[in-house]
Amino acid sequence: MPKGFFVRPVKSLRGKIVLAGDKSISQRAVIVSSISKGTTRIENFLFSDDCLSTIKAFRSLGIKIETDSNSIVVKGNGLYGLKKPTRPLNLGESATSLRLLSGLLAAQDFKSILKAAPSLSRRPMRRILEPLRLMGAQIRARKKKTKNWIEEFAPLEIKGTKLKPIRYKLPISSAQVKSAILLAGLYVKGNTQVIEIFKSRDHTERMLRAFSADIRLDPSMISLSGDKELSTPRLIKIPADISSAAFFIVGSTIIEGSEILISSVGVNPTRAGVLNVLKRMGADIRLFYHPEKITGAEPVADILVKASQLKATLIDCPEIPAVIDELPIIMVAACFAKGNTIIRGVEELRVKETDRINSMVTNLSLMGGQIKVRKFTQSDSGAKAFEREEIIISGPTKLEASRVSSFSDHRTAMSMIIAGLAAKGNTVIDEISCISKSFPNFIQTLDKVKN
Ligand code: S3P
Repeated sequence: MPKGFFVRPVKSLRGKIVLAGDKSISQRAVIVSSISKGTTRIENFLFSDDCLSTIKAFRSLGIKIETDSNSIVVKGNGLYGLKKPTRPLNLGESATSLRLLSGLLAAQDFKSILKAAPSLSRRPMRRILEPLRLMGAQIRARKKKTKNWIEEFAPLEIKGTKLKPIRYKLPISSAQVKSAILLAGLYVKGNTQVIEIFKSRDHTERMLRAFSADIRLDPSMISLSGDKELSTPRLIKIPADISSAAFFIVGSTIIEGSEILISSVGVNPTRAGVLNVLKRMGADIRLFYHPEKITGAEPVADILVKASQLKATLIDCPEIPAVIDELPIIMVAACFAKGNTIIRGVEELRVKETDRINSMVTNLSLMGGQIKVRKFTQSDSGAKAFEREEIIISGPTKLEASRVSSFSDHRTAMSMIIAGLAAKGNTVIDEISCISKSFPNFIQTLDKVKN
């Protein structure tokens, strides 16, 4: 018997599911409550590998964090209450913790060293180091020459210092870069301003507002006035993770006879672009919004999905930040859609946990998917032209089982499991332990709705 995880096709996916909390919001809740004054209870917290890395890091920075079955209690020490860690902080595979913490620790009055697991140590850090250094941050990183520039990587050696405000236009759409600057900006006297070309997820801005930070959100710019204590709202309820929900939404769309209800999902428009994309493709998705509450300040809805025939769509560059983590499962959906689905401006996928263009194109092609990747040139409002990438998927294709690989990437693994459920024959995935990075009980949840 060959080794690996076996996926057998199912008749349908049916039932009601409750998913764990959003990964991005859980991490921000720990970070911001740790530097606020008072105790914060964070309910429906996601206990995944990445979020546990964040908790561990803040415990090493002197913060008391208690955990129970689905919530945590953080005893914040105030803006200037973090303690010098006695050892390097190891953020494991969590890029969000590593990048956000770099901003926060750059402004402390102590030194710290941030280490990462091997795969995160291969992911680019220059994107955060550039703006932080403009603020005066003193950070040393491992350098390596790439084709066009010198890139920098973890481990990062941070000599905390007083920072100054900047006005920074993000050259790439990245919530992690934006958040690193804003967290550093909390310690800066004066106004830190961030301008985005295309809006990335705004969870940090919402979290900071929930903690009464002096933050202004204009359509074209975020301004934060720092050096002010944050006050805790005492209770944060984390909505279910739309990125986790996306696997069930696509699964129940492409598998005939399916019907799934997912409760209390975060549907923040800067994050939940997958819903618009799938609706444009003809998916039968209905949202039942919860009445707005102040805690967490994130929009929440129950999502009802029924199987339907899909048609191709165009996902253009401005929409990419709102679907960035869902592109692997959208690629699966596109194989089942009639026509050519074009996804433009996907090059950021190259620097995720694995190169997700490579992982998904390789796997889906092995299963019979019709996928091409092309380069195109885009000029930045007439200034400099830069090379981008687009994916074209032609469908519909009845996918056929194959032996595929997770490439040790959680989202590739879960996408291929859903593809396998809808394919002909038994698909085998080499290993799927990486799923615990974001969705430890994915398999159990799936087993509940399989028919
Ligand atoms: C995240 C931002 C995105 C996303 C990642 C989580 C965050 O990364 O892909 O999974 O929590 O801020 P980038 O900021 O690199 O786009």
